[in-house]
Amino acid sequence: MSTQPKPSNPLKAVRGTRDLLPPETALWNRIEQTAREVFARYGFGEIRTPIFEATELFARGVGEETDIVSKEMYTWEDRARAQSEKAQSLTLRPENTAGVVRAYIEHKLGERGDLQKLYYIGPQFRRERPQRGRYRQFWQIGVEVLGPVSSGSESPVRDAEVLEMLATLLNELGVKNWRLELNSVGSAEDRKRYLDILRKALAPIKHQMSEDNQRRAETNPLRIFDSKDPNDQALVYALPVIGDYLDESSRNHFAQVQAALVACGVPFTVNPRLVRGLDYYTRTTFEFTVPDGSGLGTQNALLGGGRYDGLSEMLGGPKAPGIGFAIGEDRLILVLQEQDGRKAVDAPHPEWMWAKKLDAYIAPIGAECNAAALALARELRRTGLSVEVGDGTFRLKKSFDAADKVARNIVILGDDEVASGTATVKTFATGEQTKVARGELGKFLSPAPQAEGS
Ligand code: HAM
Repeated sequence: MSTQPKPSNPLKAVRGTRDLLPPETALWNRIEQTAREVFARYGFGEIRTPIFEATELFARGVGEETDIVSKEMYTWEDRARAQSEKAQSLTLRPENTAGVVRAYIEHKLGERGDLQKLYYIGPQFRRERPQRGRYRQFWQIGVEVLGPVSSGSESPVRDAEVLEMLATLLNELGVKNWRLELNSVGSAEDRKRYLDILRKALAPIKHQMSEDNQRRAETNPLRIFDSKDPNDQALVYALPVIGDYLDESSRNHFAQVQAALVACGVPFTVNPRLVRGLDYYTRTTFEFTVPDGSGLGTQNALLGGGRYDGLSEMLGGPKAPGIGFAIGEDRLILVLQEQDGRKAVDAPHPEWMWAKKLDAYIAPIGAECNAAALALARELRRTGLSVEVGDGTFRLKKSFDAADKVARNIVILGDDEVASGTATVKTFATGEQTKVARGELGKFLSPAPQAEGS
């Protein structure tokens, strides 16, 4: 007797990863579409880099001592498959800036001479403790603006333009109550001077700090400002801040960014302790946050970014100052859903946030009308209408219920209709039922054009 394999527990998505399902994916698509439209207005083009890269890219770019590189990366040893290959340490990208700058160097984009304005939309991977708004696979919508100094890549205008674009995008998406927190972490030289001062300030107090912060005090003291440890907050707050140690040119740069934002009417707050969790930042750094209770649980950063004037050189490339940001798309969705005041499955939602109803649901009456229904659907879909086809084995009531859920109209197709070249259409919004000639159906089912301004 053959033994059936024992049913095991059904497999689930890996902790920290999620399936995105309709209708919620309509909101994801809409956000991505809006982002693409806004980026196009500012002259950006799309870049797609690989999802995994050499581990060294992130070690050198993001920084060995950052939380991301020291504990959150998905890294594996990729075995050689042939004599011509070498085993290599690879990593799922935890962020995309390092990859974009690598591509900029590899394809010699700097030699084109102009400013490269690139955007990306895609998944990133970090082995963080999963919670609301924090996942192990999450999506970022980001941009990077970089180029040789002669292209104006160092100019404070670029910083302000990127920030103004973000304000525009968030407003167009309908995000409410966002707050822009801004700081300057200075040039590499400013940082060196400041780090000496920070180390001196830490020397007498670091033993009172958490183990993590004691280690950071030795290896990368700036990272102490990223610490969320509540016991260390008072000590962290009393430390000198970088803004007081900027040289004149960094101070000027920061002042010009702020002046341009004021001129554009983009509100911001300077947060002198905003240093960001990645090592490549220089000068302008920023985060857009939302107030507690906006749907992000204990997180409040919707996006983050800044300047990285030395990153290309850190990766072995030419001088290519740049600035960029990445929006956490998962977080954007949570905020929009919360601010909209409803959950994903509730209806009705603002039209653009959810999948629109289809133009028609074709209900064949009897299995013998299935083929004719499919042929009619093909005809209508080819004219651009959105159509679902039922099944002739359904009772009429079941067809009506199914149609009412997904479509604006039900098209009933029985033997009589097929024979006479007509169909019976019921429009749910009005309750009207009409017999329509087949040739007229396309026009009849088309949505009425929107009135101007509605
Ligand atoms: P980041 O601050 O590490 O910066 O990430 C940017 C945004 O990604 C965060 O503000 C957050 O919204 C989202 N995010 C990060 N980790 C998670 C997670 N585990 N789950 C959900 N969302 C998350 C960067 O990645 C830089 N590459 C940004 C940048 C571009 N700087 C210059 N250019």
